[in-house]
Amino acid sequence: MDAMWVLGLVLGLLPLLIWVLRSFNEWRFCHSHLRSNNGGKLPPGHMGWPLIGELLEFLWYFKFIDKPDEFIWKRNAKYGDTGIYRTYLFGFPSVITCSPEANRFVMGTGTEDGSFTAGWPAPKLLGEKSVIMVEGLHHKRLRRALMDAINRPRSLQHVFISLQPAFKEAFENWSAKGTINTGDEIRALGFSNICSLLLSFQRGPLLESMEMMYRGLLAGLRAQPINIPGTAFHYALKCRKKLSIILESEIRNRKVNKENVKIDFLQDLMDSVDANGDKLSEEEVLDNITSILLGGYESTACSMTWALYYLCKYPEVLSKLKKENYTIRQEMGEDNILKFDDVKKMTYTSKVIDEVIRLANVAHFMFRTVAKDTNFNGYKFPKGWKVIVWLRSIHVDPHYFKDPLKFNPDRWEGFVPSPGVYNVFGTGPRVCPGNNLVKMELFMLLHYICLDYKWELVNPNEAIKFLPNPRLADGAKLKFSRI
Ligand code: HEM
Repeated sequence: MDAMWVLGLVLGLLPLLIWVLRSFNEWRFCHSHLRSNNGGKLPPGHMGWPLIGELLEFLWYFKFIDKPDEFIWKRNAKYGDTGIYRTYLFGFPSVITCSPEANRFVMGTGTEDGSFTAGWPAPKLLGEKSVIMVEGLHHKRLRRALMDAINRPRSLQHVFISLQPAFKEAFENWSAKGTINTGDEIRALGFSNICSLLLSFQRGPLLESMEMMYRGLLAGLRAQPINIPGTAFHYALKCRKKLSIILESEIRNRKVNKENVKIDFLQDLMDSVDANGDKLSEEEVLDNITSILLGGYESTACSMTWALYYLCKYPEVLSKLKKENYTIRQEMGEDNILKFDDVKKMTYTSKVIDEVIRLANVAHFMFRTVAKDTNFNGYKFPKGWKVIVWLRSIHVDPHYFKDPLKFNPDRWEGFVPSPGVYNVFGTGPRVCPGNNLVKMELFMLLHYICLDYKWELVNPNEAIKFLPNPRLADGAKLKFSRI
């Protein structure tokens, strides 16, 4: 009898308990905004459970059922196609934006006028002087230096000249191995490429240990910032410290021994002067070299791996790619080296690259912090909340891309997406400074690989995983050989 009574009580109270738990975050974060309606209404949505918010739902779509875009589509169906939703995710009350207009507003006007500031939570890992962390005039000054170093034509020409031997050597190694884990091989290649461009460091034990440290740093950026031994964040701080020692010693070495001056991005950053004739401080150079390495490491590897995957899946695209690149090779000099100017002729290859980057969706979303109460389309972004700018769902939305999951480079023929629709590299003052660099690397990869090698997926139906980046579950295992 007693047991029945207790069971009845528990069952009776359960809905009440669930209601209390489901209301907790709503009350804690939204109560005052919902009541006042001052500066617009809160976006529709729900703040989920105490402490974790909607994290379980996020993991459900991204990790367990591998359908990440349903996370947004579900909100769309439930709350209406507002393109703006409230949530509690990754430890913060947040506004998700996922329409072209709202994303452009946050990354463009809203970032320019200071309504939204940088949103990455870990200044200790990136460094307080990193371009990713600083704001306003500081940001403009660093960006100018960075763009000069990695994005102007002279730098991109240097990329072409210096990286081609590395690509050729890597492909030869892969074909000697026969079967490769493409994700790992390309990550190592991408890391040594970026280290060679930035620091003139060549392959070897130092680079291998630096790569491990960068992996640790990346893992820490994605983890909860809890600094106790055993956590990913604690390990990442240690990695950052060791990396700083290596980079500082390189910077000092170059300052002291003038004969150590090299042609690379580090030297460009060290030599760059702002409008007042001031050089960057040592800390600024250090933090920004670390950030460029971080920005360029996984993202480039990810897009190169997906390029090989899609070309396996779409042989008709591969044939067209070969045709264009074959014509270019026939017009080359005896050295068979791709020239920077050849890129202008690679119109189909360029479409393949745009399509790879669209579908690979390397960056699922970006973050901002709301610096002051802001209103967009009648919805309020409360000060102190985060904004999660959801890039990926638009890139696979049939409203904007016909048959969106099809890898179809021809869709880019004469097609100029409306503003905000194709924002793989972001937009506005923080648009990716490495956008042309990654494209140059893809031009080189595609040119040599499609003409000289053949490859096939070992597991053609392998599952796709989405965290932390989109990737194949087996690491993209390929059989790889010379033609
Ligand atoms: C396919 C490859 C890449 C993708 C999809 C990508 C994507 C992005 C996006 C969306 C942003 C905007 C962030 C924001 O608005 O807060 C960004 C910023 C950035 N990216 Fe990339 N990126 C790629 C490659 C690279 C490379 C190769 C580098 C460096 C060599 C790089 C370095 C950076 C840096 C330093 C920023 C911060 C800029 C700032 O805050 O002003 N990225 N990237």
